[in-house]
Amino acid sequence: MVDTDEFIEEAVARIDDQIGDSNAVIALSGGVDSSVAAALAYEAVGDQLTPVYVDTGLMRKGETEEIRETFSFMESLRVIEAADRYFDRLAGVTDPEEKREVIGDQFIREFEREARDVDADVLVQGTIYPDRIESEGGIKSHHNVGGLPEIIDFETIVEPVRDLYKDEVREVARALGLEEIISERMPFPGPGLAVRVIGEVTPEKADVAREACHVVEDELEEYDPWQAFAAVIGKGTGVKGDNRVHGWIVAVRSVESRDGMTARAQEIDWSTLQRIQSRITGENDDVARVVYDVTHKPPATIEYE
Ligand code: XMP
Repeated sequence: MVDTDEFIEEAVARIDDQIGDSNAVIALSGGVDSSVAAALAYEAVGDQLTPVYVDTGLMRKGETEEIRETFSFMESLRVIEAADRYFDRLAGVTDPEEKREVIGDQFIREFEREARDVDADVLVQGTIYPDRIESEGGIKSHHNVGGLPEIIDFETIVEPVRDLYKDEVREVARALGLEEIISERMPFPGPGLAVRVIGEVTPEKADVAREACHVVEDELEEYDPWQAFAAVIGKGTGVKGDNRVHGWIVAVRSVESRDGMTARAQEIDWSTLQRIQSRITGENDDVARVVYDVTHKPPATIEYE
């Protein structure tokens, strides 16, 4: 990338131009891409921009509180508590792409209501270069690309980081002074923990995945992975105390990558893996087994669904 400060200056000027006197909205997801796009746009037009964060119940541990704190300087920030509505709609849905559709559709309902409320003509999006490539290639639907503009009729779409790779977005985040928890944050899929739970998404499975993801992120920080997380992949037998139980199987995954398009499973110390196992099974009586995924991408994808 060229000079970061120059990029910011030009991006802010361009956004200012594109938004003009209109009202704009952005879906803030907690990730670095939408955070950078929001910060650039807020710098350009202030409270003419309404950032909307929807708590779907499928977010990382503590994420909603972190968003409230990190973006407390944006007076126009809206935090929408929508977990019950998501879980209601996800009941009985097991197909991965159908999950994405339901989540994307519910998101549009939540977002559209807020966009209408502030009379927004402009949509700001945190789409980055690899999102566009993967969507164009039809590998997987990314609900942060395409969905919103097709359904809600905005006059203008502003994508300030559309030509950047993730590492470049992080550089911009640092230069903007965004907190480390945002600038260094691992990518998190749009559908959230729903793609880290195989089969039906229930509040219980989402909770198991959330707590386990937190343990994995915490224990593997020193490996500096592109992404490290846990997924609930099924049920199996185990022994807890004197009882034979039928508990959750949690898979741990940690990968290196530049852009998410290919990835290598990381080699992790046995002692670290054992600590992760003992924390995850110790903190939750309903987890019977923890496994480590050694598969690269390809042939696997990074996420489980
Ligand atoms: P996969 O699993 O396809 O993931 O190897 C590549 C990168 O994309 C993220 N990912 C998603 N991001 N919506 C998103 O916004 C999605 O539906 C989605 N599926 C995967 C994944 O976390 C990884 O960083």
